Formats: sequence, C-alpha cells, structure tokens
Amino acid sequence: MRIRKIAEPMYSTLTHTSNTAVDLEDDDFRRLRDFIKEYSGIFFSDEQKYIFVSRLTSRLGIRKLNSFKDYYFFLKYDKEREDELSIVVDLLTTNETYFFREILQLKALFEEIIPIIKAEKSYISRPSLRIWSAGSSTGEEPYTVSIMAKEYGIDKDFNIEIYATDISQRVLSISRKGIYGNASFRVTDEYYKKKYFEPYGDKLKIKDEIKNMIKISHINLMDSTVINLLSSMDVIICRNVLIYFDLESKKKLIEKFYDKLGSNGWLLLGHAESLINITSLFKLVQLKNDLVYRKPQK
Ligand SMILES: C[S@@+](CC[C@H](N)C(=O)[O-])C[C@H]1O[C@@H](n2cnc3c(N)ncnc32)[C@H](O)[C@@H]1O
Repeated sequence: MRIRKIAEPMYSTLTHTSNTAVDLEDDDFRRLRDFIKEYSGIFFSDEQKYIFVSRLTSRLGIRKLNSFKDYYFFLKYDKEREDELSIVVDLLTTNETYFFREILQLKALFEEIIPIIKAEKSYISRPSLRIWSAGSSTGEEPYTVSIMAKEYGIDKDFNIEIYATDISQRVLSISRKGIYGNASFRVTDEYYKKKYFEPYGDKLKIKDEIKNMIKISHINLMDSTVINLLSSMDVIICRNVLIYFDLESKKKLIEKFYDKLGSNGWLLLGHAESLINITSLFKLVQLKNDLVYRKPQK
C-alpha cells in the first residue's frame, strides 16, 4: 500500500477572489473580534457584527482564504500577520483627521497649559517639553502642534520634542511624506498654508522646519512593552482613539498614560471622550478654553 504524505495546509485556498458575502458563525465572529480586541483595543459588539463582516470580507479574497476561520489562523500565525493586522485596524477604524481640529483645546494647550509647565520648570534653563500625539493618524494633529509651537514661540523656551505614533503603517507613511489634499485643510487659515506649506501638484507639502520637529513611530497603544520605552511626557494628546476601544482596553491605556506622564502631566482627550467610569486617577481641570485632565502631584 502506498502511503501518501500530504502536508496539512494551514489555510485552505480560495479558487476565486470575489467579494461575495461570507458567512461568519457567531462563535467564530467572537473569537476573531476578541483576538483583534486583544491586539489593538478596538472592539465590535455582537450588534456590530454586520459592519465587522462587511469591512473585512474583501481581505479573504486578497489573502486567498475560504473563511473567516482561516482568516483568524492567518492573523494569529502567518509570518505576514503584523502587516495584515495593520490593515485590519485601518479597515475597522477611520483615520479621519485634519489640521487645527478641536482648536479650542489646542489654544488651551498653548495659552494656558504650556505657560504653567514653563513656570513649573523655571528653575531649569531651556527645559525639555515632551508632547505625545498618541493615535496621530496621517499627521495633521502633531504637525498642527509643531506649527502652533512656532507661532507661540515655544520652541525658543523649550527643547521641544513632539512624538507622533499610530498602529497603522499606512497612515504613518503619509505622515512621513507630509503631503496633504483639501480635506486636511478644511479649517486652516490661508496664513498657515502660505507660511508652513509649499505647493506640491494640487496638494500642499509641509515644510521641513515643521516636519523635522516631530518624531514619527509605529506604536500599538495596547503594547505596554513598547510604551515603557518612551521617555516621560509632559502632555499626552490622545483624541478620537478611545472611542473605538472597549472598557477594559480604555482602562489599560489610561493607566499606561498615567505611568508615562510626569508628575503634574496633562492628558488631552477628544471632545466626545471622557474618563467617566474609566478611572479616577486624573483630576478634571477647567481652563478658560477647555476642560482637560491632569495627573495629580504625588
Ligand atoms: C480617528 S483617528 C484620530 C486622529 C487624531 N488623533 C485626531 O483626533 O484627529 C484614530 C487613529 O487611532 C489609531 N489607532 C486605533 N487603535 C490604535 C492602537 N491600538 N494603537 C495606536 N493607534 C491606534 C488609528 O489607526 C487611527 O489613525
């Protein structure tokens, strides 16, 4: 008798690459969405299964897989899993952002918070000022901070370091190029466009003096080991990111932010986000321009 040795394929392959609807059993859905939640913090409830399926179905064809069960194993074990997870996060979140978004909060940063930090560090000549845009998407948020730092002359008072991080390699590569179309400038004054950008076809490119002020890197906010390597921050800006997370991931992240902030450090969240029911580690501070969170002095 001839024994045929057949290597068990880890994933069965598709004979077609169409995007036709693919069934996802409830158990398989929960296993896959919990895995994605563990990885990224991004959570889809049972009621959101339909959106989850519709956003990810095309990936099965692209990766030549037959089912979401196969996709789960791909995300878990394949050597290209990190690349694919980055795409999954892109598909499950929006990268919506633009220059000078939620401007009152940024005014609060430059007109109220930074002067307080300056007074607190007045015993040091030219102290450091570290600002972290966590979940920076395509870069408009950290570049706005750099532009405002120039406009307010903050870069003369401090050794300013602005960190821009995101889980998506795609958006980070756009940040690195620094080229933006109209949608990014929906609330930007002509003054800033002329002063800090140069024409690039029908788009605008950020000038090097602004670009060089930010350090761009890939960080998954659920990855504590990498976050631990960052320096201590004066200000963390994490806007419109927590909205995608489940409660457990929000708690984990906010505790990490607490550890990463220096004594008296500031945490700026998006207007739709708050720490109610998440933590009482921070105190809420009413400034003239906005409400923000602050780490209490020990
Ligand atoms: C809506 S954008 C917010 C951009 C910017 N902060 C703003 O408010 O304009 C949300 C960003 O969070 C990023 N994100 C989601 N989960 C993340 C995670 N676990 N780690 C790092 N970034 C994450 C997404 O890739 C996306 O670029």
